[in-house]
Amino acid sequence: MRKIGVLTSGGDSPGMNAAIRAVVRSAIYHDIKVVGIKRGYEGLINGDIEDMNLSSVADIIHRGGTMLRTARSDEFRTEKGFNKALNVIKIFGIEGIVVIGGDGSFKGAEKLSQAGISTVGLPGTIDNDLAYTDYTIGFDTAVNTVVNAISNIRDTSTSHGRANIVEVMGRHCGDIALYAGLAGGAESIIVPEEPFSIDEICKRLIQGRNRGKLHSIIILAEGVLNDANELAKAIVEKTGADTRLTTLGHIQRGGSPTAFDRNLASRMGGRAVQLMMENKTSRVVGIKGNEIIDLDISEALSIKKEINKDMFELAKILSI
Ligand code: F6P
Repeated sequence: MRKIGVLTSGGDSPGMNAAIRAVVRSAIYHDIKVVGIKRGYEGLINGDIEDMNLSSVADIIHRGGTMLRTARSDEFRTEKGFNKALNVIKIFGIEGIVVIGGDGSFKGAEKLSQAGISTVGLPGTIDNDLAYTDYTIGFDTAVNTVVNAISNIRDTSTSHGRANIVEVMGRHCGDIALYAGLAGGAESIIVPEEPFSIDEICKRLIQGRNRGKLHSIIILAEGVLNDANELAKAIVEKTGADTRLTTLGHIQRGGSPTAFDRNLASRMGGRAVQLMMENKTSRVVGIKGNEIIDLDISEALSIKKEINKDMFELAKILSI
């Protein structure tokens, strides 16, 4: 392989820059030319592409966001847009593309590989919603951001003797809520994968209050409820606890990546280039038990993500 492209697509995640750096520097080390494709599949359609060199990726390993920028491209999903992208790939002489993104971005990569373009996917999303890998790039940083927020909220929750609901991201996956909830000592964790009962949450709150607990933190994954305010109202009605809701939102998507995410991204980026060199494409890279793995993209996308039930049950036991 003589020339590859790299792009980031979908929601950004901390560590994407470290992954871009690893792809660019590993490729150059192996005498492969690299181009950066801007704004994901949008840039591929519009030929928004530039040559990358060693200095293009200097001073980015510690930065959140993505220096290549990103987009959720509707046009790429149309036949016309897809064909435009194929044409651009041909014009620029790109022989393989490393796609850094989540499941939507991987579906795009799968389509490209079905059209004969060599692709390798790296999991870049804070959601940790890709079942084939233990961790996605950005998840650890997002969890740490949420844990820090919980600690701040816990201070004021204790001072006022309040119940505080913290709504976190994750789309259809409860991993951010679960990992941050357990690490933050939350009293209740509500995730889309598990049923929940308002009465049970209120019972835990009252039990805690009766044994002298001053705070009560309830972590709620987005998408479980249409309106998180309804949960706050129900808690007030059933327990009388003064209740506040904090929606953390995009604060979870930014910030300097943790060492874990930087190492994960660097290792995965290195593997992506190796796969390209060996012509092993239509693959996605992951991590299982601290081993970097790769598998077929369609196979990876077909695996159903499940919540870690042991962790979920443990969190309940530890927060009584
Ligand atoms: O997929 C990452 C994610 O941050 C989800 O957790 C969230 O539901 C979504 O993106 C938000 O998307 P946007 O930034 O387009 O509002």
